[in-house]
Amino acid sequence: MTIQWFPGHMAKARRQVTEKLKFIDIVYELVDARIPLASRNPMIDEIITNKPRLVLLNKADMADPKITKEWINFYKSNGIQALAIDSQTGTGLKQIITSSRDILKEKFDKMAAKGIKPRAIRALIVGIPNVGKSTLINRLAKKNIAQTGDRPGVTKAQQWIKVGKDLELLDTPGILWPKFEDQLVGQKLAATGAIKDTILNLQDIAVYVLNFLKEEYPERLKDRYNIEELPEEIVPLFDEIGKRRGCMVAGGYIDYDKTSELILRELRSQKLGPISFEEPKQFEENESNE
Ligand code: G4P
Repeated sequence: MTIQWFPGHMAKARRQVTEKLKFIDIVYELVDARIPLASRNPMIDEIITNKPRLVLLNKADMADPKITKEWINFYKSNGIQALAIDSQTGTGLKQIITSSRDILKEKFDKMAAKGIKPRAIRALIVGIPNVGKSTLINRLAKKNIAQTGDRPGVTKAQQWIKVGKDLELLDTPGILWPKFEDQLVGQKLAATGAIKDTILNLQDIAVYVLNFLKEEYPERLKDRYNIEELPEEIVPLFDEIGKRRGCMVAGGYIDYDKTSELILRELRSQKLGPISFEEPKQFEENESNE
């Protein structure tokens, strides 16, 4: 799905999420484990204000496990619980309920002390497009999409999905926009496939990816493309990869579009292994420079 975000759309998206906050106990903020910062909404803290939150680092199967652990610790040191999950296979999803109970313990204990009957935790999933919201909902839902329209304060149109007996999810997630005015954020979103290739220049994205891999994962590049010594400059590196993979045009020249496409396809289909584009360390450095 390609969404064009105009100021009107943003205001509407925000309003829709704000409306739903009334019905729920906790927000599940879904981000891409490979780019936890670039894949979050820049105004999320303002939008969900003081609702308890659980951060779900989705697509953890595609991220560098060591860096994902660092992110979880980073969130923890900022007082936020985060979990690594893979919504496609269901890995890590069981922990969602346990962590939610933990986060909401005080609220539910207070309710119990007032004599209010225990009930399931009510949650809303929010995240930018393509982060995996529908995949997660479908995984959690199995076949339990239940209409429970007669709950006080909940309109008939609001559908809840039962996840076991302890959790209920609003069936439509909150869709929020990324920080797309930032070029680097755009490149990261494009590299991971969150935004369509037609929006950004393919070669620009591939240049970003190659520069990044050259710095952070040089051995993976060497192994994948059979290159003994990585060239310093980016164009000779493109040439090497293009030549080795037969991405050529008449006259023996490299077809840079085809080479770019190949690199991105192989990155997204994990031919280069699990890769994370953001580390908490960089984030902390940026913060202290600002
Ligand atoms: P959205 O509702 O937030 O917009 O995202 P959606 O669930 O449609 O997921 C976007 C893409 O991400 C889908 O791939 C989906 O299969 C994939 N995805 C979601 N969660 C995970 C995960 O934990 N791990 C991995 N590896 N992929 C995940 P697609 O390209 O649209 O389709 P396809 O690749 O499944 O054919």
